[in-house]
Amino acid sequence: MASTVTPPLVDLLREIRRSLVYLKSIGCTGFDCSAEGVAMVAQLGVGPVAKPAVTAAPVSATSPETLDQVRADLGECTRCPLCQGRTHIVFGEGDPKARLVFVGEGPGFEEDQSGHPFVGAAGQLLTKIIAAMQLSRETVYIANIVKCRPPGNRNPQPDEIRACMPFLRRQLAAIRPQVICALGKVAAQTLLDTQTSISRLRGDFHAFMDIPLMPTFHPAFLLRNPERKREVWQDVQKIMKRLSRPST
Ligand code: URA
Repeated sequence: MASTVTPPLVDLLREIRRSLVYLKSIGCTGFDCSAEGVAMVAQLGVGPVAKPAVTAAPVSATSPETLDQVRADLGECTRCPLCQGRTHIVFGEGDPKARLVFVGEGPGFEEDQSGHPFVGAAGQLLTKIIAAMQLSRETVYIANIVKCRPPGNRNPQPDEIRACMPFLRRQLAAIRPQVICALGKVAAQTLLDTQTSISRLRGDFHAFMDIPLMPTFHPAFLLRNPERKREVWQDVQKIMKRLSRPST
């Protein structure tokens, strides 16, 4: 069977492409390869000199890429073996300017079939939790640690998470929400880079990319353990309180 592990050179080329896409998004239209430019590079020991844009749209140098740009770069992803069994990539959906982003573990059967996150039984419970927060699925954003369904709904493996996380990071950089809610052990432990149990992590704000992050139990866990819903309600009330603060 052919290996699906991408060689380092392909990863490097993808990284260069991502950087070029980003530079383009902030208005760079080329690189200065003139003798003076090359001499300056040699003198400063830095990368190629970006030429100022002549015709680019007036975008700020700090404007991040859009979700559409991240989606386009993801393409028909084959960066990890999960691509082999998927029906649809589940990129994530909701308001690109959402103040609250939910991050789950990875698509299940229904999500893989439909291409939409959290649409199965656990998703219906998440929709109820969102409604109880006086919000809607359209006003928040919902994503996952991995965008393709792990076979048999097993936990995503470290190499699969490593391949997918850069895209979630870029989605979060594009949205820049006020709060992230990590749903369940895999999301919380991955985003917080810890092995601490979800029972210990939940209930307090942590941070991911300098964004306040509240871990809580996964809705699928709540379906099996409905008596733990009270704790999730406490966690989401803390989120609601944080969201009601004026944003800085
Ligand atoms: N469970 C998850 O973690 N994510 C989904 O999208 C669906 C179920």
